[in-house]
Amino acid sequence: MQVSPSLLSADFANLQRDVEMLNASAADMIHLDVMDGVFVPNISFGFPVIKAVQKIATKPLDVHLMIVEPQKFVSQVRDCGAEIMNVHYEVCPHLHRTIQQIKDAGMKAGVTLNPATPVSMLEDIVTEVDMVLLMSVNPGFGGQKFIPGTLKKVAQLRQLINQSGSKATIQVDGGVNMETGALLAQAGADILVAGNFVFSAEDPIATIEALHNL
Ligand code: DX5
Ligand code: ZN
Repeated sequence: MQVSPSLLSADFANLQRDVEMLNASAADMIHLDVMDGVFVPNISFGFPVIKAVQKIATKPLDVHLMIVEPQKFVSQVRDCGAEIMNVHYEVCPHLHRTIQQIKDAGMKAGVTLNPATPVSMLEDIVTEVDMVLLMSVNPGFGGQKFIPGTLKKVAQLRQLINQSGSKATIQVDGGVNMETGALLAQAGADILVAGNFVFSAEDPIATIEALHNL
């Protein structure tokens, strides 16, 4: 199982220390949650912080934009050194164009679904994306409880990907711990995002390793 620890739960006063911890860990990528206070009821951090992280990170940056009009920021996200740019289905009326713009900018393109958005909405775009991110909490905050209905969505998405010949990976974000992580592995997830579970652990490196071994 691949693991993408979310910096949202890091200690922002010790961001360099926490990024260096992730560099030394089994993390496969670093998840960066950008919130605008419009699409989601919270504001996190923006491009200057991602640029600072990029200077010291040795893992690929997986940027999750919880913002309206993400298509306006494709080149800025690329200039932050992002490997993957994830946009929400719910804010992209021209998703096909936005996905092309992300890929033309040299990044991998991801599309994210809120808990209430069905997997079937991806039928006509799944072959174009590199990643599908399923939210297992309502986006906006770390440390929330996993929504169990996500497991069924992972299985549905796995089937859609297999049937369509898509090469997209399945990432799941929100309320991931050892129990929910094991269930997600069984359901067919490829990448687990984990914020609170990693950063509130006594030994974050061992926690990342344990998730990695699922
Ligand atoms: C939530 C963010 C998540 C968040 C997950 O809106 O998209 O990436 O950091 O946090 P945990 O793992 O604490 O649920
Ligand atoms: Zn996220």
